[in-house]
Amino acid sequence: MTFEWKEAYSVGCAEIDAQHKALFQIVGELHAAMLGGNAKQMLGDILARLIAYTTRHFATEERLMQASGYPDYAAHKALHDKLKQQVLNFQKEFTAGRAAITVQILQFLMDWLQHHIVGTDKKLGIYLRAKAAA
Ligand code: FE2
Ligand code: FE2
Repeated sequence: MTFEWKEAYSVGCAEIDAQHKALFQIVGELHAAMLGGNAKQMLGDILARLIAYTTRHFATEERLMQASGYPDYAAHKALHDKLKQQVLNFQKEFTAGRAAITVQILQFLMDWLQHHIVGTDKKLGIYLRAKAAA
């Protein structure tokens, strides 16, 4: 599994790209910590950091969408809300000792990120650039 951000993920907005890079990096840290057999406490801390950063990132995109009058705001925000809920549910299970951080979980996160960036965030990036050029 690779956690490297690559140019193909660029949405053409520096602020969003920087946050995506940071998200990839945190998922990579979680992967390294999992492979290293780190204590649950440490995994939990990285997971909490990932959730906090994701929340902040979604808020940034939602602010940019609202400020620019983005027509697909509701649908895009619904995708953010759904993922956030899924991750929060997972965190609850993890904290309660009913779920573990596995390769499957990390794969799910990376798949979601990659699909969301390429399929959804790129459309926002194109809109923001067109808006800025107008
Ligand atoms: Fe998004
Ligand atoms: Fe994003």
